[in-house]
Amino acid sequence: MGPKTEGSIDLTGGPVWHARALWRRVHLWKPFRKNVENFLASWPVHSRELLLIGPSAGWCLPEKFLRGFSIVHAMDPDPFAAVLFRLNHPRARIGAWQRADFFVEGDAFLNRHPGAAVLFCNVLGQRRYVNRDIESVENEMRQIKLRLRGRDWASFHDLLSGFGEASSEIKVLKSALDQATLLSSLDLSGEWLDHLTGNVFARSQTRQIIPWRFAPGRVHLVEAGYVNA
Ligand SMILES: C[S@@+](CC[C@H](N)C(=O)[O-])C[C@H]1O[C@@H](n2cnc3c(N)ncnc32)[C@H](O)[C@@H]1O
Repeated sequence: MGPKTEGSIDLTGGPVWHARALWRRVHLWKPFRKNVENFLASWPVHSRELLLIGPSAGWCLPEKFLRGFSIVHAMDPDPFAAVLFRLNHPRARIGAWQRADFFVEGDAFLNRHPGAAVLFCNVLGQRRYVNRDIESVENEMRQIKLRLRGRDWASFHDLLSGFGEASSEIKVLKSALDQATLLSSLDLSGEWLDHLTGNVFARSQTRQIIPWRFAPGRVHLVEAGYVNA
């Protein structure tokens, strides 16, 4: 899911992503999808209105979770996402679908739905492909919790990715772990891409690490956590 050219938002979704997801989600991604489903089922969310940020076609989102909301709104710049999402989740009650960039139009979207819970759907770890300024991305990630203050929100996002094999077992962390310790605790080594999402959650927050076998020999360590208002 790496970038093809610099700085374009459609690098993180689009036809290549959909073709891969259609193919891989049935077998290769099945354990990851199950772990995401369990994570979302464990989120004690109070609002009945949900905003999805970067849901794509919801290839890894469980319909049962979506059906728990009386209305689900979404923001994703991918022109194919809305129609494919409706095909994948015919029973979800979908409201507004905005084709836009959260880092440009996100605050207006949030303000239009002041009581809604928010789920970042494996999107924050893609930001570094679009904004090449590392410090600025790290700052954007730190700001997320401030922008979402007063709401129930959750995110699952790439933390690290690289070559290797990992078991599909999740790892629950009571607080943030430095990357080297995390990798060695999973018996992983070598060069890993830092997705700059290490400060999305407060360091003292409980989170889980979901190893995602993205392709044979390629692993993404996905960090998942929630914050309740
Ligand atoms: C990895 S895919 C998400 C996959 C999704 N969890 C699923 O189940 O299919 C990332 C999605 O985030 C979207 N995206 C990337 N940057 C975004 C941004 N700044 N604001 C909103 N959506 C964004 C992309 O268009 C893409 O659809």
